[in-house]
Amino acid sequence: MRLFALFLGTALAFVPQDTPVGVASHSYQPTAAVHGTSSNLRRPSPLSEQGDVCVAITGGAGQIAYALVPLLMHGRVFGEGRKVSLRLLDIEACVGALEGFAMEIQDCNSDLVKEVVATSDPEVAFMGADVAVLLGGFPRLPGMERRDLIAKNVPIMAEHGRALAKCAKDGVRVLVVANPACTNCLIAATSAPSIPRSHFSSLARLDQDRLSAMLAEKLCSEETLEQTSAGARTQEPERQHAVRTRQDRNILQLGPSVRGVYVWGNHSPTMWPDVSGAEAKIDGRWVPLQTALQRHGGLPNGTRLLSPAREDGTALDLDSAWRDWISETLVPAVRERGTKVIEARGKSSALSAANAIANHLKDWLHSSTSGTHAGVSMGVFSDGNPYGVPDDVVFSFPVECGEGRHRILHGFRPDMAMLDESAKELVEERREALETLRESERQALS
Ligand SMILES: NC(=O)c1ccc[n+]([C@@H]2O[C@H](COP(=O)([O-])OP(=O)(O)OC[C@H]3O[C@@H](n4cnc5c(N)ncnc54)[C@H](O)[C@@H]3O)[C@@H](O)[C@H]2O)c1
Repeated sequence: MRLFALFLGTALAFVPQDTPVGVASHSYQPTAAVHGTSSNLRRPSPLSEQGDVCVAITGGAGQIAYALVPLLMHGRVFGEGRKVSLRLLDIEACVGALEGFAMEIQDCNSDLVKEVVATSDPEVAFMGADVAVLLGGFPRLPGMERRDLIAKNVPIMAEHGRALAKCAKDGVRVLVVANPACTNCLIAATSAPSIPRSHFSSLARLDQDRLSAMLAEKLCSEETLEQTSAGARTQEPERQHAVRTRQDRNILQLGPSVRGVYVWGNHSPTMWPDVSGAEAKIDGRWVPLQTALQRHGGLPNGTRLLSPAREDGTALDLDSAWRDWISETLVPAVRERGTKVIEARGKSSALSAANAIANHLKDWLHSSTSGTHAGVSMGVFSDGNPYGVPDDVVFSFPVECGEGRHRILHGFRPDMAMLDESAKELVEERREALETLRESERQALS
């Protein structure tokens, strides 16, 4: 595949030879810069129409982008018949790395990549974007308080929000990942008032995936396997795997599939990982966690209610050992998983973050989780939620979603004290962030 290189200001664009140059250059036409009116009506998802998808990724020279792009160019999110235009944005100092990354994308010779633009100009990056993934931001350095991180990232999110409003397509959907993800999402949306708030979300899926994986591993742990019938082992390949690998403590066990777990609140240590509606796949059937536990030897007498799950009365009875394991081991482990990964790798999660982003985008934009009771965790504006979380913060709830829309699921009875802790933190973050935003706007005017 031979590529054309187009230099546009600080942007470097590669366009595959079989793509007419007119098509590639069309995406730079200023018509796309007029974002429409300040209507709050939802506009169709970028994926509801046929055609190529223009995806802008900020922090394009970073490690998550490096793991995410292969998922996009192999059709994992937008489908194998959908070409993508990739717009990679990073700061001026990283443009060299960005160009190297663009060369590598070119060398992958993917049929699904229509063009790659490497730029340090947000308006070039967001021009005509259908989807924007905001990974770019100031990192948390040792000794930095959360409020320092907010102060550093507010001007970046504000700049990106304004450029999105000016240049992206009407129906653009924006996923904010850069930390502090919820508050960054709030600031990006606040700075782009012409884009409906429902078009913004923040990543909570990685926390949900971590929770699912840990619960699945526990269900398949040595103790529970000891009590599983030999017949069940032969029927369940996942468990066979665990039986093999538990001989070697250095090999992680893989458990059965788990669904119906959610993470509520902020992407911070105040998040609440919730297993009260969990189901596990046992012998090919989805069963409530309680039933899954009973299979593993039954619950002892004197079980007590951990946390009522749903209004329909499907409450969970977990024995005290499980209850303690959930509150003392599982919840802290999910909250601390990011730190553990950094300690082990010397870098933060990238592969799992990219995987979670791909899942988030696919569920939100493409497939629909509607109609199944297995929703997903997503950071969304809290306005009108039924759980008493104050309006006007970005908060992770269980949602059903699809075709670019989402709806906060009703009917849960979450631990209100846990939600309150996260909500208070987010309200405080919002206060600090809006103060910083106002201050930076004042400085810009003076
Ligand atoms: N929400 C989550 O679940 C979750 C999970 C993992 C990581 N994260 C966050 O995602 C972000 C990206 O992670 P990473 O590992 O790729 O980080 P990274 O440090 O490897 O990459 C970040 C990139 O952003 C760039 N950048 C900085 N300022 C920018 C600006 N103004 N415009 C454009 N780009 C800019 C940097 O130059 C860098 O290349 C981090 O903030 C991280 O904390 C969130």
